[in-house]
Amino acid sequence: MNPDEILAQIADEVSVCQKCSLHQSRKKSVPGVGPVNSEIMFIGEGPGFHENEQGLPFVGAAGKFLDELLAQAGLARADVWIGNVVKCRPPENRDPLPDELIACDQYLERQIAVINPKIIVTLGRYSMGKFFPDARISAIHGQMRRSGDRFIIAMFHPAAALHQAKLKPTILADFAQLPALLEKARTLLSAAVPARQVEPDEPHEDPKQLSLF
Ligand code: URA
Ligand code: SF4
Repeated sequence: MNPDEILAQIADEVSVCQKCSLHQSRKKSVPGVGPVNSEIMFIGEGPGFHENEQGLPFVGAAGKFLDELLAQAGLARADVWIGNVVKCRPPENRDPLPDELIACDQYLERQIAVINPKIIVTLGRYSMGKFFPDARISAIHGQMRRSGDRFIIAMFHPAAALHQAKLKPTILADFAQLPALLEKARTLLSAAVPARQVEPDEPHEDPKQLSLF
């Protein structure tokens, strides 16, 4: 399977998944959307009313604001992957429960593995909690932190910024930093060449020859 087929396969599995009780409130599953070669993945919480109707992430009011935030960072939806930690709508938009987050995580893990983004932006505390379980968003938002082969940046959820006016300048400022942080991530990740790809300056001595001495 090529990477696009793997993403499609994951979406197919999600559409019929019954691994947690959220499948009962599902109209359309929302596996996430975006090119398989996206350098940035945005991960929100879970589908709301409109997402459940359309099967697409961030298409309601929070989504409109996300589009504005992306635009001011010089990004379009077509450039990035957007998804959520749970793929089916929690009833009445309640918070996802721990067992639901655990049940759904395997899909997101496989999506991250195949997309292999340079940066993951977590939107809100549930996706932040996947990477930084003990962090407080007010303390770490906007900071780029290394996690294995990539970087994670926690940001406030766009819906939170819509409801709390004082968060709006903060989330705008965090998004405005994204182009520079992506440039930095590209540099840092390309500098970290895996050992097997490093050309030795001197030919390696053959251990068998060494043993002759
Ligand atoms: N809020 C989210 O966290 N995700 C969506 O897809 C829509 C709203
Ligand atoms: Fe499956 Fe995730 Fe939907 Fe639960 S939320 S039913 S784990 S796809």
